[in-house]
Amino acid sequence: MSGNAASPHRLDGLIAVVTGAAQGLGLAIADQLACDGAEVMIADLQLETARTSANRLRQQGLKAQATYLDIADAAGVTAFFERMVSEHGRLDILVNNAGVGQTVAPIVELSDQEWARVLNITLTGTFYCCRAAGQIMERQESGCIVNIASINGQNPGPLVAAYNVAKAGVISLTRTLALELAAYGVRVNAVSPGPVYTEFNKKVMAQRCQRLNITEDQMIERIRGSIPLGRWGEPVDIARGVAFLCSPAACWITGEVLRVSGGLEGVSAAPPKRAKN
Ligand SMILES: NC(=O)c1ccc[n+]([C@@H]2O[C@H](COP(=O)([O-])OP(=O)(O)OC[C@H]3O[C@@H](n4cnc5c(N)ncnc54)[C@H](O)[C@@H]3O)[C@@H](O)[C@H]2O)c1
Repeated sequence: MSGNAASPHRLDGLIAVVTGAAQGLGLAIADQLACDGAEVMIADLQLETARTSANRLRQQGLKAQATYLDIADAAGVTAFFERMVSEHGRLDILVNNAGVGQTVAPIVELSDQEWARVLNITLTGTFYCCRAAGQIMERQESGCIVNIASINGQNPGPLVAAYNVAKAGVISLTRTLALELAAYGVRVNAVSPGPVYTEFNKKVMAQRCQRLNITEDQMIERIRGSIPLGRWGEPVDIARGVAFLCSPAACWITGEVLRVSGGLEGVSAAPPKRAKN
């Protein structure tokens, strides 16, 4: 049955927004939703990259557009979702993928600015998008939201406290919104990805291995070895989990957190004592 018009995995004709989809996991998610039949809006801070990505999808015969969106700008988020509805008549799918990692540091060295930056974008930005899309979906009494959390939101790893807290917050936001929108037939779920070697993860790895006094190759191998299924994730692994939750195949699933991580529950290697200065 899979891949044909009768499949419960198809998203034909549905209007989807994926935030932070110019590159990385978001782009793979946009690609997968479009392959499954949705009309996808790639919404990202990096407008030029988003346009190039949307063009590439259109060249494959898929339906994709690009637009500028800063999820941390509450007024901009509201205006964007209003524009989506006035142009398309409705909003069927929102994937809140945009988020930032933090500069790797122990809590005792973490600055106010870095804490606020990560929480403002990764958690509060996701809240702005959930609120705006939730209003639309409540009104139309249909729709589905998938928030991209992280295994760090379920099992905090050391040296990225602001990120851990932001992602734990995204999980709580997901489960709260799922309850509040259930009466309207709107489903809200989260996906917790494990490690995928995107731009975001490359940056974190480079900093983390400095803190642990090991090479980047050793770090990459150490993580690979800790993943029960024995390999790092590929963007498409995450995208398939998201697409499933967006599809009619998941019509009785809400408030769920789906770990897509090769079985990895969290990155827990404790750093050694810091040198005294
Ligand atoms: N890569 C991983 O291993 C991994 C693991 C767990 C969770 N995640 C989560 O997956 C999501 C995507 O991660 P990625 O690895 O693809 O990262 P990435 O850095 O490669 O891509 C993130 C995208 O989000 C966009 N973005 C950042 N701030 C934004 C803002 N304020 N408004 C709109 N767009 C913004 C960026 O421009 C970029 O295109 C993030 O939420 C991340 O926390 C990633």
